Amino acid sequence: MSSLPLRADATIRRLRADDAAPFKAIRLEALTINPESLGSTFELENGLDVGWFAGRLEDSHTIGAFRGGELVGTVGFVVQQGPKNSHKGRMFGMYVRPGSRQLGLGRLLLNTLLDAAREQVELIQLIVVSDNLPARRLYESVGFLEFGLELKGLKYGDRYYDQVHMALDFRPATDIA
Ligand SMILES: CC(C)(COP(=O)(O)OP(=O)(O)OC[C@H]1O[C@@H](n2cnc3c(N)ncnc32)[C@H](O)[C@@H]1OP(=O)(O)O)[C@@H](O)C(=O)NCCC(=O)NCCS
Repeated sequence: MSSLPLRADATIRRLRADDAAPFKAIRLEALTINPESLGSTFELENGLDVGWFAGRLEDSHTIGAFRGGELVGTVGFVVQQGPKNSHKGRMFGMYVRPGSRQLGLGRLLLNTLLDAAREQVELIQLIVVSDNLPARRLYESVGFLEFGLELKGLKYGDRYYDQVHMALDFRPATDIA
């Protein structure tokens, strides 16, 4: 794992319902700038009111990165539903605004999220579009391993996108007595 320091002044904290308006704004930006990298669409989320985003923040553990008081990055996770799935978390919504990329914020967001997830679940899973090399490199660098490839996992416009399924096991078998 790289130990490069953060190359920007930034603060990190958990987002709450009060953050719903800037959270919606950054989601809509992400879905405009990187529609191919995310599972949702601008059209779908633009039609949801701010209250929906407040609920999303309450029902998940979502981290925000701020520069100069402005929300510039997010990532979240939810504990999966059901008695046979609640040992797993699902990560979503990793995004850093273009002007704040390659400064270490994505890694800081991810490591902060993993510290919280480790307390709540045994493993965490995510899905990433196969040609999204920046995100895949970031996830691999903190220990995520690929466990599946879903061909044509997404269709956006006329194009199909293959999706890589990745997981980070906080309790690998060698740790179990
Ligand atoms: C993926 C993303 C969150 C990375 O955020 P970031 O703040 O730029 O990442 P960092 O500066 O912390 O970089 C962390 C690591 O990611 C990888 N990485 C980041 N940008 C990269 C690039 N352009 N090319 C290759 N690797 C890259 C590197 O491994 C890097 O580690 P290093 O700095 O030690 O080389 C950002 O590019 C982004 O928001 N992309 C669009 C949305 C998206 O794809 N989200 C993922 C959905 S699954």
